[in-house]
Amino acid sequence: MDIDETITLEGLKTYLSYERLSLVKIYDKIDSTNIELNRRIDEAENGSIVLGNEQTMGRGRNGRVFDSPKNKGIYFSYLFKPQKSLKEKISDEKDSLLWASLTSWSAVAVSRAIESTCGLRPKIKWVNDLFINGRKICGILTELIPSKDNSWVKGIIIGIGINVNQSYQDFPVEIRDTAGSIFTESKKKVSRIILVASLIKQMDEMIKAWPYERARFYNEYVRNSLLPGKIVSLSKDGICEEVLVKGIDKDFALIVTDKKGKEKRILSADISLKL
Ligand code: BTN
Repeated sequence: MDIDETITLEGLKTYLSYERLSLVKIYDKIDSTNIELNRRIDEAENGSIVLGNEQTMGRGRNGRVFDSPKNKGIYFSYLFKPQKSLKEKISDEKDSLLWASLTSWSAVAVSRAIESTCGLRPKIKWVNDLFINGRKICGILTELIPSKDNSWVKGIIIGIGINVNQSYQDFPVEIRDTAGSIFTESKKKVSRIILVASLIKQMDEMIKAWPYERARFYNEYVRNSLLPGKIVSLSKDGICEEVLVKGIDKDFALIVTDKKGKEKRILSADISLKL
C-alpha cells in the first residue's frame, strides 16, 4: 500500500458501507473543508462529510492558518444538524455551553480513532488540541452556523485537522518546534484511509451519544487531559497571566487559580504551556 496515497471513495469502500459513503464528498484540492461544507449547508444532510487531500486555505482558530499539505494529513469536516428539540437553543450562555461541548466530545472521538488505528493515545490540551510527546498533532475548529435571523441553528460544522505522515521538515518554520505528526512521534507511517474510516465511525458514534452520554465522554476527556496540575500562560482579551490549572468542570470549563490564589472559571482563552 502506498502510504501517501490519495483518499478516495473507492479506497474507503473496504471499511464503510455504500450508504454511509453517500454522504461523503472528497476533493483532491479545496480551499477549506469547513468553508465548502458551509457553502452546501442548506441541502446537506446530518452526518455529511467533506474531506480534502489538500487545503489551500485551511483555517485554524482565532484567524490562524492550518497548514494542510497534499496527502500528508487528514482535513475533514463533519456536519451536525440538530433535531427540532435542540435547534432553537441559541440564546443564552447555557445554550452556548451545550454547543461548545461538541468540540470537547469531538476531541475524545478523534483520540479514540487515533488510538484504535495507531495504538497511541493523544493527550487533550484544553480545549481541543491533541498532543503526542508534547507536540500538537491535531486541531479542531467547530463553527455554529445560525439561520439568517439568528433564531435557530442551521448546523454545526466540526472541522478536524490531523497531522498524519508529515516529517518535521514538512512543517512551516514558525511551528517546527511545536508541531508534530503521528509519524514523527511514533516513527510509523499510517494509512490515512484507515484512519479516516475509523474517524467517521467514532464521529457517528459520538453524535449518536450527544448530549446524553455526557459522563462517559467527560470522564474520558478529563482522564486524558494535559493541563490539570500545570502552570500555564492564559491569554484572553489581550491580557496575559500565569495561572495554575486546577481542573476541568462538567461544562468543560477550565478551573484555574491566579497568582493571588483567586479561583476563576474560564470558558474560552488561548493557553500556552510553561516549559
Ligand atoms: C486549530 O488548531 O486552530 C484548528 C485547526 C482546524 C483545522 C481543520 S482542517 C479541516 C477543517 N477545515 C478547515 O479549514 N479547518 C479545519
